[in-house]
Amino acid sequence: MTALDETPARESRLPWHMRGNYAPVMDEVDAVDLAVVGALPAELNGRYFRNGANPMNGPTMHWFAGDGMIHGIRLRDGKAEWYRNRMVRTKALAGADRMDMSTGTMDLTVGLANTHIVSHAKRILALEEGSLPNELSGELDTLGPYDFGGRLATPMTAHPHTCAETGEMHFFGYGFMAPYVTYHVADAAGQLIHTQGIDVPGPTMIHDFAISRNYAIFLDLPVVFNIEDAMKGGMPFGWDAGYGARIGLLNRDAARRGEQPRWFEIDLCYIFHIMNAWDDGPDGNTVWLDAGRHASMWQGSADSIDPCYLWRWRFDLATGTVHEEQLDDREHGFPRIDDRRCGLTNTIGWAVTGRDPSNRDMDAASGIIKYDLANGSSTFHDFGATVSSGEPVFVPAAGAAAEDEGYVMTYLYDRATAGSSFVVLNAQDMSAAPIALVPLPQRVPNGFHGSWIAD
Ligand SMILES: [Fe+2]
Repeated sequence: MTALDETPARESRLPWHMRGNYAPVMDEVDAVDLAVVGALPAELNGRYFRNGANPMNGPTMHWFAGDGMIHGIRLRDGKAEWYRNRMVRTKALAGADRMDMSTGTMDLTVGLANTHIVSHAKRILALEEGSLPNELSGELDTLGPYDFGGRLATPMTAHPHTCAETGEMHFFGYGFMAPYVTYHVADAAGQLIHTQGIDVPGPTMIHDFAISRNYAIFLDLPVVFNIEDAMKGGMPFGWDAGYGARIGLLNRDAARRGEQPRWFEIDLCYIFHIMNAWDDGPDGNTVWLDAGRHASMWQGSADSIDPCYLWRWRFDLATGTVHEEQLDDREHGFPRIDDRRCGLTNTIGWAVTGRDPSNRDMDAASGIIKYDLANGSSTFHDFGATVSSGEPVFVPAAGAAAEDEGYVMTYLYDRATAGSSFVVLNAQDMSAAPIALVPLPQRVPNGFHGSWIAD
């Protein structure tokens, strides 16, 4: 039984992140040879896996605090071969605590693995920023915590970025003790080849970061660890305007020599998600960063979040100045690009926006916006008045395809039927009806991030 089956009176006493399509599903389901409405492109051979919080033991203190569950669909030769959902069988799910109160130390092998799922060097990693990754099989069996052969001794962000040119996976971890932030690079073969501390003034919460061809880009923003909130068992991070806000550009070559980022003060804000970054100009001296900007976040309460708009920062390394500018006036979430442009100039991006642009409840109807950044326009794909969309993941039609030549895929939830489906859109024609829709055997709760893992 799920919370959606419960009586309205009982459901109204649950926190918002346990109600509606935020409510967890309790069953692990398998289905094979699923019916397809339309036609799945025959070149889509692989798996779409999406992670999300699915609390298995009653209400959690925050939406972000639920156990990780992956919903996966396997496509082959134009068929939807299987759908299955699996809990990530973490040590946390088995009851382990991440904090050893007697010693004050963190066990990095204990985490929720609930935020993202990525593939690098043939390993599939379920990620949550407070712990080590959990490795999964292609069939969604949990293989266990993964520490890069003993080399990773910090948590790993849920948002690593893989350089389109070198195949290196760049990431970081943050924690409660200096150096607070640690930068890591794994090469294309999966070897952890670089680790260095990044100097920031305090225990800031960093959800995402960015790379360009020449820089790793760090966000040092005023959402900071608060020991009193942690002791009360609530969200241990909150807004602290006195902390300031800055973005650091670390030259990727200079990093190998142990140099630190060059920091640029910016207006107070919080950034959950990067869209992309790139550099150009003489010597790569101009760096551009596009990301979702909240004017404030978790000010007074972990349910308090200002709206998120697409902004652009332009850093001029010759003059040491930064220019900040809002690009679009629709609230958005979950920005993504063609990952073959990660760190390089992109002209296209996708995100989720509300059908009512001011309603950012994931239970409200939403669709996918495609930003044409070259000419400042956008197109919205509307799934209908009762449907909400998950994060859009772009998959190129072929290796040499143009930037938006391919497909956008995600899971949908329709509150009219209380059912979910997997959808594939033509990424070049967002106003067209979906190419394929695969009704799923159970509801897929609102979740976080996912990846297409090609065969
Ligand atoms: Fe995220």
